[in-house]
Amino acid sequence: MSRRLRMAVVGVGHLGKEHARILAGLPGVELVGVADANIEQAQAVGQRLGVPAFHEFGPLLSLVDAACIATPTTLHAEIAAEFLRRGIPLLVEKPLAATATDADVLVHLAQRHGALLQVGHIERFNPAFEELQRRPLQPRWIRAQRLGPFSGRSTDIGVVLDLMIHDLDLILALTGSTVRSVTALGMSVFGGREDIANARLHFENGCVADVTASRAHPTSQRTMQLWGPEGYAEADFGARKLTLLQPSEAVRRNGLNPAQLDPDSRARLRDDLFRRHLELATIGGEAQDQLTCELTEFVACVGAGGQPRVTGADARAAVALAERILFSIEHHCWTGQADGPKGPHDLPAPAGLLFDQPAEREAA
Ligand SMILES: NC(=O)c1ccc[n+]([C@@H]2O[C@H](COP(=O)([O-])OP(=O)(O)OC[C@H]3O[C@@H](n4cnc5c(N)ncnc54)[C@H](O)[C@@H]3O)[C@@H](O)[C@H]2O)c1
Repeated sequence: MSRRLRMAVVGVGHLGKEHARILAGLPGVELVGVADANIEQAQAVGQRLGVPAFHEFGPLLSLVDAACIATPTTLHAEIAAEFLRRGIPLLVEKPLAATATDADVLVHLAQRHGALLQVGHIERFNPAFEELQRRPLQPRWIRAQRLGPFSGRSTDIGVVLDLMIHDLDLILALTGSTVRSVTALGMSVFGGREDIANARLHFENGCVADVTASRAHPTSQRTMQLWGPEGYAEADFGARKLTLLQPSEAVRRNGLNPAQLDPDSRARLRDDLFRRHLELATIGGEAQDQLTCELTEFVACVGAGGQPRVTGADARAAVALAERILFSIEHHCWTGQADGPKGPHDLPAPAGLLFDQPAEREAA
């Protein structure tokens, strides 16, 4: 019987502790330790899973066959490089690195040392996205929204690298094309990096994508709409559901001219639209655990030498696109004048409050 894959997790905070929990229960894996700069956090996770806890990753280098890195993004490059230099396969959380230059270094190190490098773009394992990829849709226009309340984490990066990066990766995978031009704007709401961002991307193959991300939104939404010559798709990543719409065969052949319908059909057009003229299907909604799927694929690829769904090169492309978006955000002029306010922090002076503050809050 072959030996189990000895693995460790570096950074066992909000997400890393879930990596560790799942790995500890995966067949074919032996979790040999966890490391976290916050030793209490490392010990709590280590104790729960019955594995040694370390306050830094150094001792793990000689103990593991493979590892997961789930530290804050700005530390990915430095920590991942130490593992890759030793030829240790890695699953690095998304985004691969904070800059395209750092991402490049990791991709090259992985190549040079023959180490598998997978990146945690977990939405690739969302059943709604998997269904979408199976359909012969050639997207010509894409709209993506990823909105939610601020978690208080990932303050080392802005919303583009934190949230929008998910959709950038998905859109790059769907279009299979490169981006010709980027126009973007973004605002800081909490005083740090940009918390709201919108980007319009024009691809070499003619596709246009409009991507919005916010971590200052009262409700959570993760959706993508796609239009192509074959029809329309809407993915709800939160509900893991895909809605598809296509013209019926009669509409594909003859179009739909209300003037040519008999009076009865014309009167019922609105009611019949999604029964007769446009075909509608909703697929998915399964409660698949995406993190388990991602980790299972990583372990299988390490074992069999396969290619993961999200390679270092894929993730590097998403970081490079994010960097172009951030550049455009920095240079966006809010008043249309080059010497006027510009970028995520320098906005025109507010004209006033949008509504009166409730009296009780003022009193408090
Ligand atoms: N795939 C996803 O959907 C998803 C979701 C959330 C976070 N993430 C990514 O996961 C990473 C971690 O995010 P999080 O939300 O878990 O953050 P977190 O702050 O909850 O956890 C990070 C942990 O890393 C530890 N740490 C810091 N420096 C370290 C070091 N030098 N060595 C070891 N440990 C160190 C911290 O103490 C903390 O416990 C980020 O890159 C983030 O973008 C991905």
